[in-house]
Amino acid sequence: MRPLPGFRDFYPEDCARRGYVLDGWRRVARRYGFVEMDGPVLESMELYAKKNESGAEILGQLYNFQDRGERDVALRPEMTPTLARMVIAKERAYRKPMKWFSTSNFFRYERQQKGRLREFIQFNADLIGDGSTAADAESVALTIDLLREFGFTKDDFVIRLSDRQAWIDFLTARGVTDTKAVLAIIDKIEREPEESLNARLAAHNLTVATLREFIAAGSPEHFAPLLEQLDARGLREFVEIDLSIVRGLAYYTGVVFEAFDKGKSMRALAGGGRYDNLLADLSDGAVKLPAIGFGMGDVVLGNLIEETPHTRAKMEATLAAAPAAEVYVVVADEARRREALGLVQALRDAGWRTDFPLDAAKVGKQFQAAEQLGTRFAAVVGGEWPAVKVKTLATREETTLDFTELAAWLGKAVSTTATSC
Ligand code: HAM
Repeated sequence: MRPLPGFRDFYPEDCARRGYVLDGWRRVARRYGFVEMDGPVLESMELYAKKNESGAEILGQLYNFQDRGERDVALRPEMTPTLARMVIAKERAYRKPMKWFSTSNFFRYERQQKGRLREFIQFNADLIGDGSTAADAESVALTIDLLREFGFTKDDFVIRLSDRQAWIDFLTARGVTDTKAVLAIIDKIEREPEESLNARLAAHNLTVATLREFIAAGSPEHFAPLLEQLDARGLREFVEIDLSIVRGLAYYTGVVFEAFDKGKSMRALAGGGRYDNLLADLSDGAVKLPAIGFGMGDVVLGNLIEETPHTRAKMEATLAAAPAAEVYVVVADEARRREALGLVQALRDAGWRTDFPLDAAKVGKQFQAAEQLGTRFAAVVGGEWPAVKVKTLATREETTLDFTELAAWLGKAVSTTATSC
């Protein structure tokens, strides 16, 4: 039996890789002063359907059903509506700006394609209650630093920056009334054939050519203040202006951005933007707070880490430095198993990842087991007890010491060799 299409099993090696990504995300978010939050996996269908703030695309991808209490419910496809609901309920309890992040799993009934699954993990960071360019810069900078944390450089990825407000100004000046509908068409400009786009644009008196002219002009003066803030942080080189980015979700109102691999061979690594009206709309005007945020998925990021030699090497070195066991207690003399168990417990109490054979086994087999676990040290409990022989497996060096000194000796051995791993 296999998992459903688009769903994943996480074997221990997959969990280790997932942990590597989650740890990196959390570290950087905390460095930026963001605090962690989460919400429920299952939400009332009303949160997504009532005002349809996210847009038709995501609504069509919902895993929704009736629960046993005949409530219409849906598995969360994204964090933003949940976050908005939570902020609306308790906004007064928090100082502004609120800087919240989360690492959660989401569900979308997506078409099968590389980088898109039906259950995925997404990091979200949102800054609520600040409508300034400084907040925009903080959000873009965090996206860049999340990727740099895994070893990516400006040669590996780029942030494509745009602004829906620039589009809205342009479209309104051309007499377009339903700007949201046109933005949804622009979102497909790089993915759909020109003919079908032109057919849809005709209703708004527009053509793909007119839109492309605006994209080519790029409105550089519009982005100068934000780019200046990124420049001050030394992060300007990671960003390109690209007005073809408008984002698929309907609630965005201003700056929008996406992160892509430089080879452009993959789907977006991350995407987000400003959504200054969502809280007011969902609370019927009760809570008016500007907000900006983004989401970064684990699927495209994981693929890019694997396919980029230097980021893959960094991940593998990190994972190898955290083996399943650091110390293996070899029971060389079964008559000493009781003492060996005491030593295992003492090492574990001292914080060492410690393993040992549950059954009697030849000493050679025990050393083999230790090597397979990636263990760094083997402590041999045998006839010399209370003295134990400690072997450093990589170098084959050996030393004999009293079992009470072992934990302290390990501490020293690890701190002097730490730079080599
Ligand atoms: P989104 O563009 O739908 O934005 O998703 C953000 C990122 O999540 C994508 O760039 C991608 O890495 C990942 N992602 C999305 N769908 C899938 C999928 N089916 N499989 C794998 N990865 C996926 C949002 O979700 C917004 N709520 C982000 C946001 C937060 N905006 C403001 N705050």
